[in-house]
Amino acid sequence: MERVRFGVIGLGNIGLHHLSYFPELKNAELTAICDIDKRKLTELRAVRDFDHATDVGSLGSEVATFTDYGKMLDSGKVDAVLIATPHYFHPEMAIEAFRRGIHVVCEKPVAITAREAREMNTAYAESGVVYAAMFQMRTDPVFMRIKEMLEDGTIGEIRRVSWIITSWFRTQAYYDSGGWRGNWTGEGGGVLMNQCPHNLDLFQWFFGLPRRLKAFAYLGKWHDITVEDDVSVLMELENGAPAAFITTTGDTPGTNRLEITGNNGKLVLENGKLTFFEPEAPVQKILEESQQHFYSVKPKVIEIEVESKDHGHKYITQNAINAILENEELIAPGTEGLKSVQLANAMLLSGLRDKTVEVPVCEDEFDQLLEELREHERKHSPDKAFDWDAYLNRLKD
Ligand SMILES: NC(=O)c1ccc[n+]([C@@H]2O[C@H](COP(=O)([O-])OP(=O)(O)OC[C@H]3O[C@@H](n4cnc5c(N)ncnc54)[C@H](O)[C@@H]3O)[C@@H](O)[C@H]2O)c1
Repeated sequence: MERVRFGVIGLGNIGLHHLSYFPELKNAELTAICDIDKRKLTELRAVRDFDHATDVGSLGSEVATFTDYGKMLDSGKVDAVLIATPHYFHPEMAIEAFRRGIHVVCEKPVAITAREAREMNTAYAESGVVYAAMFQMRTDPVFMRIKEMLEDGTIGEIRRVSWIITSWFRTQAYYDSGGWRGNWTGEGGGVLMNQCPHNLDLFQWFFGLPRRLKAFAYLGKWHDITVEDDVSVLMELENGAPAAFITTTGDTPGTNRLEITGNNGKLVLENGKLTFFEPEAPVQKILEESQQHFYSVKPKVIEIEVESKDHGHKYITQNAINAILENEELIAPGTEGLKSVQLANAMLLSGLRDKTVEVPVCEDEFDQLLEELREHERKHSPDKAFDWDAYLNRLKD
């Protein structure tokens, strides 16, 4: 194979963004698009969250159109698919692609539950294809630099982590706009499932999965919604270090501050700026050997230079193409998508059942919780519940 023939499934906000950079990709061509909503296959669409519009109508007749993703997979027109539908469909679509030997780039979160994400990994393992997850924040030079500093020993053994990520403010109008987002039946979660998957992926990429965690999670604390909009978590990392993760869609101005204290110093990321506070000696050595009771020697403050370079979705897709054609190592292997889902599920289970939860999360326990939340929503907040069958049938008509 010299060029990878790609199909994009789901032409909403992010699907159209993916279409927009296809002409810039090397060794790939867009050969098919699919959306259950047939109007999306022809209309000019402006993308709200991204600063551009994609004219689907201008793609040309050589790009085949499908309303049924199964027919796209069976058409012989695609070697790879980029799944950009609501998360609810990711597992089924990815597994069907794996079964047919079709490579997959899957949007985040790869699934709503750890069970489904694990089933995707099992199907992938039997397929021999490439499976990448759209965790494009891993291509951001700031996060790449942090990863480097963690791995090259600059920061040293982790003593403490804190990530306050409350800059996800959403208004009631956002939630009132309806649809599949922001409810248990449609999206399967709130801030952890919609806004935080990238943060949770970066967290596990940097520090690995924690051994256990305890969360406080609130459903509709600030908004008239059924899902969680405020979560504070304490975790215990593999080496015993504590880590805090605090998020909400209810604060403005919000904060995005990641603080990593290691034995060699403290790294802080805030407002896109990376600063390293380096003590005169490793922290544990000072603690054990200094004769000062209230040690007050100021650390060296180092502004960490971060290379400025283009990054984002396009680079994850190009990386997947290179992996298919040249075995390039994946930046974000799809199988790792399970880990951020594990974290989100464990946090919710802990917060809502009010108990400490071991990671990996017990799939049965989480599935039961989600089923209860969905049932409760259908019964007590039918105006907020989303019915996938009705949605699919309406669009098929
Ligand atoms: N990586 C990122 O930065 C990023 C950003 C935004 C969204 N996302 C993810 O992308 C996914 C889609 O989000 P969105 O905001 O584009 O949603 P959206 O609702 O704007 O678009 C989804 C599209 O999928 C289509 N669709 C739904 N069911 C389908 C089916 N069964 N078959 C074919 N098409 C179907 C819909 O008609 C719609 O056009 C979500 O999982 C979301 O989390 C990722």
